[in-house]
Amino acid sequence: MKLVFLGPPGAGKGTQASKIADRFAVTHASTGDIFRQAVAGGSELGKTVKSYLDEGKLVSDELTAQVVDSMVIDREDSFILDGFPRTIVQAELLDEMLDKRQMSLDGVVFFQLSDQEAVERLTGRLVCQGCGQNYHVKFMPPPEEGVCGKCGGDLIVRSDSSMEIVEKRLNEYKEKTEPLVDYYRKQNGLLKIVDAALSPDQVTRDTVKVIEEIMG
Ligand code: AP5
Repeated sequence: MKLVFLGPPGAGKGTQASKIADRFAVTHASTGDIFRQAVAGGSELGKTVKSYLDEGKLVSDELTAQVVDSMVIDREDSFILDGFPRTIVQAELLDEMLDKRQMSLDGVVFFQLSDQEAVERLTGRLVCQGCGQNYHVKFMPPPEEGVCGKCGGDLIVRSDSSMEIVEKRLNEYKEKTEPLVDYYRKQNGLLKIVDAALSPDQVTRDTVKVIEEIMG
């Protein structure tokens, strides 16, 4: 299974990719998580990308594609790409990476959400420092305040969750990522749309349904 999860920041790509990866036993590859771990670990990659993440800007296409090529496509047969590609150039580079290995995408799931809902989700998000589990102060509160219900780790607010940075991330999305919806729509049957405004469990059910359609 080779899927791309596409959608605005806050659409729930990470939340759903984690559940779907468990259910279908495939790798969940999030470029945002890879970059954040590199920053936390202080690696060369982390030093290079830190300012982009802090400012809500996209990391360069070439560097991002290199990371995906070496850390995901080269190692895994089955994966969900969460947050990659994010530009037309990245989509073309992904096609090349797959072609080179006689592979192709099975589908692209587009999680559709309004700006207003995306802002509300991003500014209320909590993330576990231990296992990365996502929560939301209002929509998906943890069982105990400040504590992860999965691993007991501390919950923190991501550094790119301020209103100012969220607006920048949404602008980057509209300018550079939204055109991918048409890019994939033009490729026969590849694009599937899921209404991301519904409850998390309903979105999971709808996502499973489109994946079952994709995989026949
Ligand atoms: P990344 O981590 O990919 O950020 P993003 O795309 O902006 O996505 P988010 O993680 O913010 O949102 P999401 O859709 O995964 O939603 P989530 O499940 O968390 O990227 C971060 C940065 O890395 C970028 O700004 C860039 O600098 C860099 N980067 C990454 N990839 C790159 C690339 N390809 N090229 C260049 N640069 C790149 O959910 C959000 C909140 O909503 C949570 O609180 C959750 O609990 C809640 N929620 C989820 N679903 C629901 C629901 N159905 N109802 C109510 N609440 C819900």
